Amino acid sequence: MSRSAFIPALRFHSLTRFYDALLARTLKEDAFKRRLIAQASLEPGMRVLDLGCGTATLSLLIIQSHAEVELHGLDADAQALSMARTKATEAVVQIQFHHGYAQNPPLVKGSFDRILSSLLFHHLQRADKVTALSRAFALLKPGGEMHIADWGKPRSTLQRLAFLSVQLLDGFETTRDSVEGTLPRLMGESGFADVVETEFGCTVFGTLSIYRGRRPMVEVCPEEPSSDYR
Ligand SMILES: C[S@@+](CC[C@H](N)C(=O)[O-])C[C@H]1O[C@@H](n2cnc3c(N)ncnc32)[C@H](O)[C@@H]1O
Repeated sequence: MSRSAFIPALRFHSLTRFYDALLARTLKEDAFKRRLIAQASLEPGMRVLDLGCGTATLSLLIIQSHAEVELHGLDADAQALSMARTKATEAVVQIQFHHGYAQNPPLVKGSFDRILSSLLFHHLQRADKVTALSRAFALLKPGGEMHIADWGKPRSTLQRLAFLSVQLLDGFETTRDSVEGTLPRLMGESGFADVVETEFGCTVFGTLSIYRGRRPMVEVCPEEPSSDYR
C-alpha cells in the first residue's frame, strides 16, 4: 500500500453523513447501479463482494434484487460501514461487512464468483489501483467476474470540465486515470481477461463508465519454460 490512509466518500469524514443524499439528488445513482448489477448476471448461491461498499447503497440494491446470493461488503471507512450496517438492519437483509483495504482485503482468495465495485477506484493512487485489482483478481474463483462502475474518460469537452468538480473534491492525482481512461488497461495488466468498457453515461459530474473483466478458467503461464521436458 503506498499510503495507509484512504479518501472517504466525500473526501472529509465530516461529510460522509451527507453522501447518500448528495448522490441520490445529483446522479441517476439507482439507474447506473442497477445496470452494473444486471451486467453481473448474479445467480442463486453465488458469493458476491461489493468492493468499497461505503454506505452500502449498491449492496442493498444487490441483495434486494438477488436475495439468494451470499453478499459481502468491504470498505476502509469504519464510519461508512457503521451507516451500512444500520441500513442493512433497517432493510432486514443479510450482508457480511468487512473493515479493510482493497489493497489488502481480509478475505479468502479464490472464494468469490463476482466482485462489484462502484466509485471506489478513482479514490486510489495508481499503485494502489494496481494492487487492489490484483487482489480482487486473486479473490475471484477461476471464471469469476469483476464489474466496475467509475468515472471514465470524458466523452466531450463539457464532460471534461464537469469532471473538474470531482477532481477538486477527491484530488487530481487519483482521478487522472479516469481522465485518461486507464482502468481497462490496468485490469488487463492485473490478469483480467476480456476486459471491456461495456457502457458509459454522461452526468453533471462527468462521464460514468462500466467495465467488465473475467478471471480465466485456465491461467496461461506467462514465463518461458526454463527447460524443455519433451
Ligand atoms: C465514493 S465512495 C463509493 C461508495 C459506494 N461504493 C457507492 O457507490 O456509493 C468511495 C468509497 O471507497 C472507500 N475507500 C477509499 N479507499 C479505499 C480503500 N483503499 N479500500 C477500501 N475502501 C476504500 C471509501 O471509504 C468510500 O466509502
